[in-house]
Amino acid sequence: MNYQIQTFDEYQAAYQKSVEDPEAFWAEVAQNFHWRKPWTKTLQWNFDEPNVKWFIGGKLNITENCLDRHLATRGDQPAIIWEPNDPHEAGVTLTYRMLHDQVCRMANVLKRNGVRKGDRICIYMPMVPELAIAVLACARIGAVHSVVFGGFSAQSIADRINDAQCKLVITSDGAFRGGKEIPLKSVVDDALIGCPSVERVIVMTRTRTPVAMLKGRDVWMEQELKQVTADCPAEEMDAEDMLFILYTSGSTGKPKGVVHTCGGYMVYSAYTFSNVFQYKENQVHFCTADIGWITGHSYIVYGPLANGATTLLFEGVPTYPDAGRFWEIVDKHQVNILYTAPTAIRSLMSFGLEPVQKYDLSSLQVLGSVGEPINAEAWHWYDDNIGKNNCPIVDTWWQTENGGILISPIAGITKTKPTYATLPLPGVQPVLVDENGKIIEGNGVSGNLCMKFPWPGILRTTYGDHERCRQTYFSTYPGLYFTGDGCLRDEDGYYRITGRVDDVLNVSGHRIGTAEVENAINMHTGVVESAVVGYPHDIKGQGIYAYVITDQLPDGHDADLTKRDILATVSRVIGPIAKPDKIQFVTGLPKTRSGKIMRRILRKIAEGDTSNLGDTTTLLDPAVVEEIKAGAV
Ligand code: WT7
Repeated sequence: MNYQIQTFDEYQAAYQKSVEDPEAFWAEVAQNFHWRKPWTKTLQWNFDEPNVKWFIGGKLNITENCLDRHLATRGDQPAIIWEPNDPHEAGVTLTYRMLHDQVCRMANVLKRNGVRKGDRICIYMPMVPELAIAVLACARIGAVHSVVFGGFSAQSIADRINDAQCKLVITSDGAFRGGKEIPLKSVVDDALIGCPSVERVIVMTRTRTPVAMLKGRDVWMEQELKQVTADCPAEEMDAEDMLFILYTSGSTGKPKGVVHTCGGYMVYSAYTFSNVFQYKENQVHFCTADIGWITGHSYIVYGPLANGATTLLFEGVPTYPDAGRFWEIVDKHQVNILYTAPTAIRSLMSFGLEPVQKYDLSSLQVLGSVGEPINAEAWHWYDDNIGKNNCPIVDTWWQTENGGILISPIAGITKTKPTYATLPLPGVQPVLVDENGKIIEGNGVSGNLCMKFPWPGILRTTYGDHERCRQTYFSTYPGLYFTGDGCLRDEDGYYRITGRVDDVLNVSGHRIGTAEVENAINMHTGVVESAVVGYPHDIKGQGIYAYVITDQLPDGHDADLTKRDILATVSRVIGPIAKPDKIQFVTGLPKTRSGKIMRRILRKIAEGDTSNLGDTTTLLDPAVVEEIKAGAV
């Protein structure tokens, strides 16, 4: 690839060009890929509808770029190194040739089962090579994948399947995650009771958990794979054909299906992978995210493979069998780039240095952080003890809707500053705005973070509801894409993301809407009303604090059991990741006379800061605040 920036001067020149002539800039980057047919117009856009199209008329298949074109030059190089949950189980290394072969076979399995270009496929799988293979198999034949993270409930899967009208589900009997075994197929079975669009379920054997297999609907992946050849020509896709849908939470309503398309997403995920991490030939890249999130899509699967990189896929969790697991993997596979989340770093910090010192980490050259603001303590611990003050840390800020990293240092090239995502990548034009939507110029300022120009990886729509896309991202500040994040720009022009300014929580790097959690709590029998806010949590970044009004408690269910009942309800409705950390029963909520809950007050109390609650005179019933303060948990 010919687009890797080598010096800070080159970064500045690239940035300048990308702003002065974005079309020429991205056209040049896009030349590095294999297009069946070139595009005729590089960009067409407006942020009002919104309508964004990149590489118009271009034809391609992303799997030809991720697989076929590497066969001649690096067919025998590892594409995927798989490390299983149990360190004693043998891993798997797939070369580019092997991966190509397996993707083609899986694609033929999909075709055999009636999948055609444009069909939506739900994937609910553990972190095994077959997950990456399933994703690429969809892309091979132009089917649209919708990967659902293995921690979501049956109800959440059903909502996502129904929203996208998925025709087929790919899953496994179960998943190993640390010491736990999760019965994925059984969860899918529960989901499918309410999903009439699903005609077929393909089930991989992983845990050998007994599973129900419904004749006519459910088939075994292993059996299916025996019926096909490895010959599967890639479907020719338009640059703006849909590549995938990925659901993500917002401040209102159910999660939205963020839509990414083939051409722009490929160019952007690949360009940012190469540049931010400064990936060099034969390095091993280890991104610890799950493929169920955008980080896994862009920096385990598509970005690395489009660059012919070796990507490591880890099935387990950082603390199993012990807190040295990441470091053991780094040592064992001679990992060069480690990309993880602040929550993982903070959790591992709490185990001290012994688990780190047992392993040789000298292969590491670049460290990455993503998902939430990284606090100074975690940044320095990572720098001192993992990077041994010898590896640049790239604090990468971006979102599901962005397709790839937007603000980040370029490893070894941009001077870093702890807790700062530093500078925008080429093609990215951030602006800070005040509450009135006025752009705040100059340095040493803070405001709401927006983008004023499209980059190739920007979302195109939210599936099935374009108006919601406009409303959510493009209407708050007309003419701008609004990120939902607050941000400061310091005297050096460096950006520091301070966190969400809307009702979205970031719990262990997972994005959860407060409204979603409230809806789940309100579904519990006996709950009258609830209000959910975030509070600072040492490990998770944010914890979930729920204020709940109930009817009389049911017979035999005291407050403690009722709290646990509510957690069970939230687990059922959304999944265990959305369970509140704290529940406080209250008799009323602080509301204005117009009935609006004053979350500011609830946030303060949840933070444990009750000294200055600000003006409470506009409240309908100021006395309720005293009661809530007194009962804070
Ligand atoms: C939200 C997006 C695609 C990244 C994984 C999460 C927060 C993400 C950072 C960072 C501060 C960050 C923001 C953003 N966030 N990275 N480096 N520093 N905050 O993707 O689930 O779409 O969440 O995560 O608040 O809006 P996501």
